Amino acid sequence: MGPEEFRRAGHELVDWVADYRARVAGLPVRSGVAPGEVMGALPAHPPEVAEPLEALIADLDRVIVPGLTHAQHPRNFAWFPSNASLSSVLGDILAAGIGALGITWQSAPALTELEQVVCDWARQLCGLSDRWKGTIYDGASIASLVALLVARESASGNSQRAGGLQGEKRPLTVYCSAEAHSSVTKAALLAGYGAGNLRLVPVKKPGHEMDVTALAALMADDAASGRRPAAVVATAGTTATTAFDPIADVCQVAERHGALVHVDAAMAGSALLLPECRDLFDGIEGADSISWNPHKWLGSVLETSLYYVRHPEILVSVMATDPSYLRSSLDGAVVQYRDWGLPLGRRFRALKLWALFRLEGAEALRARLRRDLANARRFAALVEAAPGWSVLAPVELQTVCVLHTPRDGDAGRLDPHTLAWCEAVNASGLAHVTPAILDGRWMVRVSIGAEPTEWADVVALWELMQEKAAAAG
Ligand SMILES: Cc1ncc(COP(=O)(O)O)c(C=O)c1O
Repeated sequence: MGPEEFRRAGHELVDWVADYRARVAGLPVRSGVAPGEVMGALPAHPPEVAEPLEALIADLDRVIVPGLTHAQHPRNFAWFPSNASLSSVLGDILAAGIGALGITWQSAPALTELEQVVCDWARQLCGLSDRWKGTIYDGASIASLVALLVARESASGNSQRAGGLQGEKRPLTVYCSAEAHSSVTKAALLAGYGAGNLRLVPVKKPGHEMDVTALAALMADDAASGRRPAAVVATAGTTATTAFDPIADVCQVAERHGALVHVDAAMAGSALLLPECRDLFDGIEGADSISWNPHKWLGSVLETSLYYVRHPEILVSVMATDPSYLRSSLDGAVVQYRDWGLPLGRRFRALKLWALFRLEGAEALRARLRRDLANARRFAALVEAAPGWSVLAPVELQTVCVLHTPRDGDAGRLDPHTLAWCEAVNASGLAHVTPAILDGRWMVRVSIGAEPTEWADVVALWELMQEKAAAAG
C-alpha cells in the first residue's frame, strides 16, 4: 500500500471509527456471540491476493462489531473505565503511522524524549514532586513485576548476578493486602519469591484497606524467623471496592525492615489529577515506585501505563543489558528506556498521552473525572435510600458496590439472587455491570466513568437494576 492508497483508505477507516463511536450507544453493551462464532464467521486461511478495503469494512460490521462488548458505550459500568478518547486515538494512529523503532535513544530520539516529557507532564498534573522519573509500560501488571524484581535485587544484594534466589539463605518475603489485584500475586510468583513467601495482609472493614497493624506483625514475625522482608505493594484503589491502603503507614513499617514500597494505583491514579482527592494517596512521596494507568479512567488508549521511580539508577542496574549492537557514544548521557523495563523494541506510546493532554487539556480531563465522582455519589445515595438495597463499601471514587436482598430475606438465596439479577441486567444489552466477591459473598460493582456516561445513563442503569432485581425475587 502506497501513501495515496493509504490516504483514501485511512479517510474511510477514520469515518468508520467516527460512525462507530456515534452509534455505539444504540448497540447492546455486552456482546451476544457464542464461543467460536467470530472464528467461524471468518475464513480459515489467509487471502492469497489483495482484497478491497470494502471487504474488510464489511467484515468489521458483520463479524467484529457483534463480537465486541463495547467499552466505549455510555452504559458500560463493568470492570473499570477503559476510555479510549478519540484525541488519544489520533495519537495512536500517529504512533503506528510514523512506525518509529524504539530500541535506543538514537533509534528515535523523539520517542524517548517525548516519553520523558509526557511522563513529567503527568507527574506535574498529579502533584508529585520532581524526584519521580517515569516511563510508559503496557500495563500495571508489568509495573508490579518490575517493582518486585527491583525489590528482589535490592534485598538480595543483586543476587541475579550470582546464584539468584536459589543462592539466598534467608527467603525473601512480599506483602500486599488480601484485596490487592491478582497481578500482584502473579508478579510475586514470576519474580521467584514463591507462594509460601507472599503474605496477603488482612483488610479492615468496612473500608477494605490494608490493616497496617497486621502488616507490621507479619513483617516482624518473618524477620524474627530469619526471613527477609523485601517489598510491600500498597494498593491505591483496589479492584473490588477502590479501597486505599494507608501508604504513609505502610512506608513507615516497610522502612523498619528495609523493604521497598510499590504503589499500585492502576485504576485510581487518575484521581491524583484532582487536588481534592490527593489525601487518599497520603504518603505516596515515601514510596519507591508508583504505577497508574491513564488508559483506564483518564482516556488514553490501552497500553499507556505510567511507572515512576525515585531512583532510576537502581531500576537500570536491575534491567540493563549491554549488547554491542545497541551501544552508542551517547550511553550515559541520555535515557535508554530499554534499560527501564523488559522489552527492547517499543512503540511510540507517548503520542497517545501527548495527544490526549494537548487536544483535551487538563481542565476538561479534571471536569470529566469530577462529573463521574459526583455521579457515583448521587447513585450511591439513590441505592442507600431504596428499600432492600445497600452500598457495601465507602464510595471513595467512582465505583459503587451494591447488594439487593431478596424479598423473602433468605440469606441462603443471596448469592444466586445477586448473580441472577446481575446476569439479567447484562443479558438485556442495555447496560453492563460486574459481579465480584466481597467478604465471601457476591455483590455487584457499578463502575461509573466511561467517557460518554452522563447522569441520565446512571439513572437508566438504576431503573434497570431495580426491574431485574424485582423480577429475580
Ligand atoms: C488495582 C489494579 N492493579 C492492577 C491492574 C492490572 O492492570 P493492567 O491490566 O494494566 O495490567 C488492575 C486492573 O484492573 C487493577 O485494578
